[in-house]
Amino acid sequence: MNLTIQLAPKNRHGLLLANPVMTASGTFGYGTEYNHTFDIQRLGAIVCKGTTLEARAGNPQPRLVETASGLLNSIGLQNIGVNALIKEKAPLWATWRVPVIVNIAGETINDYAQLARQLDGVAGISAIEVNISCPNIKAGGAEFGVNPQSAAEVTATVKAATSLPVLVKLTPNTSDIAKVAMAVAEAGADAISLINTLKGMAIDITSRRPQLGNTTGGLSGPAIKPVALYMVYEVAGAVEVPVIGYGGITTATDAIEFIMAGASAIQVGTASFANPQAPLDVLEGIEQFMKDRGINNLTELIGVARRQKRRQG
Ligand SMILES: Cc1cc2nc3c(=O)[nH]c(=O)nc-3n(C[C@H](O)[C@H](O)[C@H](O)COP(=O)(O)O)c2cc1C
Repeated sequence: MNLTIQLAPKNRHGLLLANPVMTASGTFGYGTEYNHTFDIQRLGAIVCKGTTLEARAGNPQPRLVETASGLLNSIGLQNIGVNALIKEKAPLWATWRVPVIVNIAGETINDYAQLARQLDGVAGISAIEVNISCPNIKAGGAEFGVNPQSAAEVTATVKAATSLPVLVKLTPNTSDIAKVAMAVAEAGADAISLINTLKGMAIDITSRRPQLGNTTGGLSGPAIKPVALYMVYEVAGAVEVPVIGYGGITTATDAIEFIMAGASAIQVGTASFANPQAPLDVLEGIEQFMKDRGINNLTELIGVARRQKRRQG
């Protein structure tokens, strides 16, 4: 069976994955944390924690709240900073078979440019995933990803600063995600990744206070899956570049839905908290699904729900 997938066909390095299962940023640390749980080298790719220019302590506690339908988080990009990442994490990644993708976050366009420049050519780093769900300080705090212009500006800046494949990670907190995707693809993104968390909050009625230390946070987990699937379907129909789809993926069935909607690869996020081996279980479930049906190549499944719809329509 062939599960390989090329996520950056136009980039000179390319981004060839042995299979379509990736980990979602912020839910799998730097990969090392899960190494003892299962053989992480079997995964398609690891996306590390969001990385900024300087180390960050993150938001006040509590930063995780479980709701009746999904997880709220307001971690606030706690991370070790790009210099420590290059010095302490990349040398180990360079010995791994599984490609590692560094997720980056900034408050200004210049932050993104500098991060991309610093990561370019570092052994052990196979690609950059650009988190554009960050407040654009110069534009009064609106997220870069909410409008096509600022999303495209970040993309073009990062592309100009690195030769690495660039994945741009979209926020669902926008009125027309397909428009943002088209602008980002036009600006040179090698692939588009979605979705980040949906904005949300919870209130403790006894203390009469918001439950999260930061008042609001991002909702993830199975609750957001139908929204994410719809957005992936929309974006895959709007752009030519590969799409990486996720949001609430817990089982292989969930993952196959995203692939059938048009995703070339998927990410497993919140599910890893309840089951640290979730990414591997998802991979093995996809393999079993293909085996049972005599499907030899993963590409036979990508977007099939779209083609059938078109034929019927
Ligand atoms: C605790 C936590 C931390 C996260 N940190 C980041 C991050 O640093 N950068 C980022 O782009 N996304 C981050 N995310 C978002 C996830 O990568 C993913 O987009 C989102 O959770 C939806 O997928 P899921 O429902 O499978 O978790 C984080 C999510 C969670 C739950």
